[in-house]
Amino acid sequence: MLGLNIALKRSVLVACVSLSALSACGGHIDSPTQDAPTQLSAGAAATGDNFSAQVAQQILAAGGNAVDAAVATAFTLAVTYPEAGNIGGGGFMTIYMNGQPYFLDYREVAPAATSPTFFSQFSTADGKEDPQSSVQGAQAVGVPGTVMGLWTACQRFCKLPWQQLLAPAIALARNGYIPSQDSVDNYSGTIAADQGHPYPINLSEYFGGMKANQTFTQPDLAATLDRISSGGADEFYKGKTADLLVSSMTQDGGKGVISKADLASYKPVWRQPISFTWKGMTLLTAPPPSSGGVALAQLLGMKADLANTAFTGVPVNSVQYIHLSAEMMKRVFADRATYLGDPDFVSVPVAGLLDPDYIAQRAAEVNPTAISPSASVVPGKPKFHTTHFSIVDKWGNAVSNTYTLNGFFGSGVVVRGAGFVLNDEMDDFATVAGQPNALGVVGGDANAVQPGKRPLSSMSPSILLQNGKVAMVIGTPGGSHIFTSLYQVLSDVYDYNMPLADSVKNMRFHHQLPQGTVVYYEPYAPFPSSLVSELATRGYSVANSGFNTDVAAVQIVNGNPIPVSDPRGRGASVVAK
Ligand code: DON
Repeated sequence: MLGLNIALKRSVLVACVSLSALSACGGHIDSPTQDAPTQLSAGAAATGDNFSAQVAQQILAAGGNAVDAAVATAFTLAVTYPEAGNIGGGGFMTIYMNGQPYFLDYREVAPAATSPTFFSQFSTADGKEDPQSSVQGAQAVGVPGTVMGLWTACQRFCKLPWQQLLAPAIALARNGYIPSQDSVDNYSGTIAADQGHPYPINLSEYFGGMKANQTFTQPDLAATLDRISSGGADEFYKGKTADLLVSSMTQDGGKGVISKADLASYKPVWRQPISFTWKGMTLLTAPPPSSGGVALAQLLGMKADLANTAFTGVPVNSVQYIHLSAEMMKRVFADRATYLGDPDFVSVPVAGLLDPDYIAQRAAEVNPTAISPSASVVPGKPKFHTTHFSIVDKWGNAVSNTYTLNGFFGSGVVVRGAGFVLNDEMDDFATVAGQPNALGVVGGDANAVQPGKRPLSSMSPSILLQNGKVAMVIGTPGGSHIFTSLYQVLSDVYDYNMPLADSVKNMRFHHQLPQGTVVYYEPYAPFPSSLVSELATRGYSVANSGFNTDVAAVQIVNGNPIPVSDPRGRGASVVAK
């Protein structure tokens, strides 16, 4: 659906991908914690829409911390941003709390009844696996992690009661809100793209009545949120909501396989965030099962290695800038396709991939004048290894959260009687080795479907620290375009001294494998024709990516938070005294 709608001196590193693996890891972990966070002049939030921004402001003003505001924001977006905000999906939360970094992985997992060949039963007339089968319908759904993730973050860090954090979302679902034209368009585009597909969906039953500028109520969702408010996460995973979700797997003839046991056994995982030293700052970002943090760190690292050579005097978004970045990006995607997967199932050589010597070696492979042919861009040999919101509170704590249904409105399946949309995260697995998914990226064994395994993600909720204090909280939706976009915004701000608002607004491009000579632009900012011609003379073709990324960031300048929402989306920013 998404496809259709859509160092200077560097030392790294975290070798470890989970807390349990910490003692076994070879690298060292940056210590961002020498200095306690500083009191800020205010809290602030940049979120996906105006409703959630108002809720974040209200919770911060009521004495809530960044995690309180994040939980309330996430539940609100599940109501007012139904195409991506969710309780039927999953995500990642990077947290900086009382001077300590944390990362909560609440990614969906593959149901127990799946296997590496699960999707081969859904074939097209030519006998090949149907790529739509991991995108639409109940068989595309991974076991949702959002409610247990928010609950788990809250149990550890919240100051305010759980019920208080759900109350605004419940009121918006019960009493209604006025949807934006953007949301209605996203619904219409999804339904149009779904016409004629063989896997049952029921989006129109719940969202067909959604009209711009008319109050839209969601009584089933209000009742579900009410149950979660009084019963906690267990209600979703073991109570009436769990029963309804399991029923939705076969509603209307669906072929979904999530069972009560899958739900009852779902667990989020506290992991050590990747901690990467860049330009004297510490970038806290997503470890596997996201590829995003590794990729972002590799891109920023390679660029820093080339700062005084290939990038010298090269203006932002010039043809040479795009070419050099594309050369780096294709190497990142080659590593991604081979090495990255769920660290609880495959050994991911994170330390090797982020080793400064390895990154320098990959940077040296960049051809400054010509496109490296795709076939020559092989994975390196490391030494071995969608809706986003950014929030700070006045105590200097921060939450960077990206969560997703994958495509707009996920699988298109709404849990009948519970009123929430289920994800299509199974498409993030390499359902067939080497076959591109909806985002055009490929993978192999490391990202094959296995029961209980998390599909490889690109989500990269990140926090940048300077001397142990939060300097920037940043993230975006956009699948494989997430880390290439964050690379551009961070480089604009810190390499080119651009104000954050200008860099978020700036034109962005994307390059990936296996489409090794294509440079993508976003509908928001097509390339000027002169740039298209210059790229053509260098051997690149250009293509519309079909969707915009949507950066939400907060920068701290002299103790004052500056939240910025992307003009591409319907995000909103608030400051909370
Ligand atoms: O986890 C991932 O990388 C994707 N499922 C995220 C999808 C996404 O960002 C959709 N946004 N446009």
